[in-house]
Amino acid sequence: MTNASQTKVSQRALQAAGQPISRLMGMALSNPNIISLAAGFVDNESLPTEITKEAANEVLANDNHSKVALQYGSNHGDHELRERILLHAMEMNQAATSEITSYNTKLDQVFITPGSNQLLFLLADTILDPGDIVLCASPSYFVFIGAVKNIGGQTYGVATDEQGIVPEALEAALQQLDNNGRLSKVKAIYTVPYFDNPGGTTLPAYRGKQILDIARRWSREQKIYVISDEAYRMLRYQGDDTPSIHHWDPSLEHTIVAGTFSKSFSPGIRVGWGFIPTELVGPLGDQKSNVDFGAPLLAQRIMATVLRNQQWLEHVEKLRSVYNERRNAMLQTLTANLSDVENCHWHETNGGLCVWLTLPQHIDTGMDGQFLKNAVDAGVIYVPGAYCFASEGELANHSTIRLTFGVQSAERIEQGVRILSEQIKAWQ
Ligand SMILES: Cc1ncc(COP(=O)(O)O)c(C=O)c1O
Repeated sequence: MTNASQTKVSQRALQAAGQPISRLMGMALSNPNIISLAAGFVDNESLPTEITKEAANEVLANDNHSKVALQYGSNHGDHELRERILLHAMEMNQAATSEITSYNTKLDQVFITPGSNQLLFLLADTILDPGDIVLCASPSYFVFIGAVKNIGGQTYGVATDEQGIVPEALEAALQQLDNNGRLSKVKAIYTVPYFDNPGGTTLPAYRGKQILDIARRWSREQKIYVISDEAYRMLRYQGDDTPSIHHWDPSLEHTIVAGTFSKSFSPGIRVGWGFIPTELVGPLGDQKSNVDFGAPLLAQRIMATVLRNQQWLEHVEKLRSVYNERRNAMLQTLTANLSDVENCHWHETNGGLCVWLTLPQHIDTGMDGQFLKNAVDAGVIYVPGAYCFASEGELANHSTIRLTFGVQSAERIEQGVRILSEQIKAWQ
């Protein structure tokens, strides 16, 4: 007989259990001296306290304006903020290319969400039925992989090289799925084209266009969208910006762009956005109505004020110099300590917050393995790479590690990487 007082959570809740982040945070908290090269947090020191205070004062200075900001907003989000974000994205794309494009993306295709994670989740919920497939880089952002799995979808990993998803491998994966009678299940290709989390790779503009062309060509049974998650676009430390996939699909027929101020301003403000195809505006809006019928308006008004006062890009410049120093510290210490270790390699990322490290095959970096335990005992923690692989397609590589350089000072990064390198060498 069932005990009526026993809690029975849903299958979806059961699926979501055991996420790596909470376990890793627990490990880090159990040892306060540990150097965490795992956290996805941003630098604490450079958080924009003064700019935010000024903007908040401005938003709340006048009784009428503050009442607007303290009220519920619209499902789509604040009008001024949507306008400013769309304009900024179009200007960036124009600046990044010599081709002139007339963008006919309309304002009602722009949604504001509390962080781009919500946008990604709503999207998955809007376009996927259980069993549907999203193709993605191998490795990929594990929170998105989790979101797809949570609603019963499948992620299908595609091979990557130093420039992200390999178009020929994407083509081959689609061919394979077609041969198996599963093409009708493919709903999207997910990519983080700028300084991928976790891979650190950047998709060259021509590859972005190739991926879009592949999506168009294989949209035989139903539309295949390209989700361009541009969370790190502003955090570039080397080279010039490149046009977004949006540039080749100016009215967003196949392309969905996700963006956020979390990395380039503040994750505490948690303002993200999405540019979405017209036919998804209604369905995604309906999903959003079920969730929160509009992101918190106070945060949106503050962000709109920061943009209006032209303080965002100034702040981004400061962040670039802070993170560039840390990235250099991480890459130089890796080079100094691991260059001579056979089958150990990493990609010299030009931006973002992550470095992806591949170790010799005999080292299992997993959560329950001895290597991680030893690393934690020695004083350093990382994200085991195995979490970043899709449920199908390219095989997971258990000898990989995601390192982040956003939180620790350059000195602590050097120290952490040295400790990790000693562990790696001890396993030779
Ligand atoms: C690739 C990628 N996309 C999206 C996000 C979501 O950020 P937020 O929800 O804070 O906007 C993150 C956060 O780490 C990320 O790394």
